Amino acid sequence: MAEPRNRYSGVSLALHWVIAFAVLAQVLLIAAHDKTEGALSREFVTLHKSVGVTILVLTLARIGWRLAHPAIALPDGMPRWEKLVARTTHVLFYALLIAMPMTGWLASSAGGREFAWFGLFDWPLLPVGGGRETASRLMGVHGLVMKGLYVLIALHVLAALKHQFVNRDNVLHRMIPLIPRRP
Ligand code: HEM
Ligand code: HEM
Repeated sequence: MAEPRNRYSGVSLALHWVIAFAVLAQVLLIAAHDKTEGALSREFVTLHKSVGVTILVLTLARIGWRLAHPAIALPDGMPRWEKLVARTTHVLFYALLIAMPMTGWLASSAGGREFAWFGLFDWPLLPVGGGRETASRLMGVHGLVMKGLYVLIALHVLAALKHQFVNRDNVLHRMIPLIPRRP
């Protein structure tokens, strides 16, 4: 029988890190928007929208890839409850990585705010009405989902550090292959 897989594929690694850095870029783009005014400031939001819908597409591709390539096993010594928390966090990540761009896209659609994807073509708007009021309510949800995402990221990074420095296993090495593998 084939050995069980114990490493992420290049596609999984690439998607993990491209999406993680894109989320960071999203926060920085909003910070840049808040600190500037006029056309430049609006440009940051347009870029934020383009990166945001790209995260949506990449996340859907990632979920498809993940379903076709089942998870690799977590370390044997990990307690059952910890495995459950890890898997639940990962599923919640996928849910929020969809909710985040969807609320942004829905808000732009409700407000009738068209935008061109990286200036290349008009990204379609969804058939939702409601105007400004609905758009601002959806933006409220957008901000709220981000708070959930911050909590997950904090938990996730703390867990990664715990694996590396307390459990001293290879979990971080599997996601950052540059970190040497422990025997
Ligand atoms: C926005 C930032 C991030 C998001 C959205 C994110 C999301 C995820 C998701 C969804 C998984 C599960 C992959 C699967 O389906 O098997 C995962 C795994 C992992 N992530 Fe992240 N991640 C982020 C940032 C980070 C950072 C900064 C680190 C390192 C400090 C990290 C380390 C890991 C590790 C080690 C795993 C593998 C867990 C295992 O082997 O089962 N992630 N991440
Ligand atoms: C994973 C993807 C995304 C992340 C992480 C993200 C993150 C954020 C954050 C942190 C804010 C600031 C919220 C606040 O101050 O309460 C924000 C605002 C906003 N986002 Fe997103 N966003 C994403 C996708 C999108 C998409 C796809 C769109 C639209 C197509 C969008 C449109 C907006 C708009 C219009 C604002 C308000 C900007 C302003 O202050 O005028 N976002 N987003």
